Amino acid sequence: MREITPKRIREMKGKEKITMVTAYDYPSALLADKAGIDIVFVGDSLGMVVYGDNNTLNVTMEQMVFHTRAVARAVRRALVLADMPFSSYEVSVEEGVKNAVRLIQAGADAVKIEGGADHEKLVRKLVRMGIPVMGHTGLTPQRYLRLGGYRITGETEEEIEEILRDAKALERAGAFAVVLEFVLADVAKLVTEEVSIPTIGIGAGPYVDGQVLVWHDLLGIYESSPPFAKRYAELGKIILDALGQYNREVKTGEFPSSEHYWEYQDKEDFRRKA
Ligand code: KIV
Ligand code: NA
Repeated sequence: MREITPKRIREMKGKEKITMVTAYDYPSALLADKAGIDIVFVGDSLGMVVYGDNNTLNVTMEQMVFHTRAVARAVRRALVLADMPFSSYEVSVEEGVKNAVRLIQAGADAVKIEGGADHEKLVRKLVRMGIPVMGHTGLTPQRYLRLGGYRITGETEEEIEEILRDAKALERAGAFAVVLEFVLADVAKLVTEEVSIPTIGIGAGPYVDGQVLVWHDLLGIYESSPPFAKRYAELGKIILDALGQYNREVKTGEFPSSEHYWEYQDKEDFRRKA
């Protein structure tokens, strides 16, 4: 069992901020764990940032299982959380259970679902059978067609009510935390005060119990990133520079130079053998 457990995450509320970052493969998960991040999260955002789609609706269970396996192999300390992809849990509780089991068997310590009130039965069932669950409300990207795009939530009375209802349903059903995505900070604060489980924000301001960011946004892999994501590095530029230099050096013959290859010092010896 890893050091950071769902129980530990719950106990951090009000005491210590929770850190969470997405990771989709072995090397990134290794680094996230080494950096001391609390939750390493295989998000279905991989459909966009790893596979190049412009939404998360085509992500399959197979993809989630493969990426979860790679991440799970790397992580020793952090909690490994895996996203349930679109249509893997909405059709029936039975299907949701089966798919959650696949992610756990791939090495996840917990699963995340989008929504709350709509899935109270599933969450309760999973928790009872021993699968820790994190919920997700506010902007739920799997419903972006209905939402009419990716936009901030919590601007109307109905939306505030829905977000609160989701968070409370998750708490009631036994979820160990809830993600609040792209929610007005005042609403996120209200939810954080109203529920006993930790809230983990993304684009939801500082009055929450933790923060989550997408790997590619945090590290500045792509030229653009969402306005709420802070770019802690410009890795895209660093990678581009390195690849450009490699390309140039091979073309000009600068690489490989003597330190990167081996040759016979005694050419006579080589001629005798060849
Ligand atoms: O898939 C993902 O990266 C997410 C986070 C934005 C919370 O769900
Ligand atoms: Na997600």
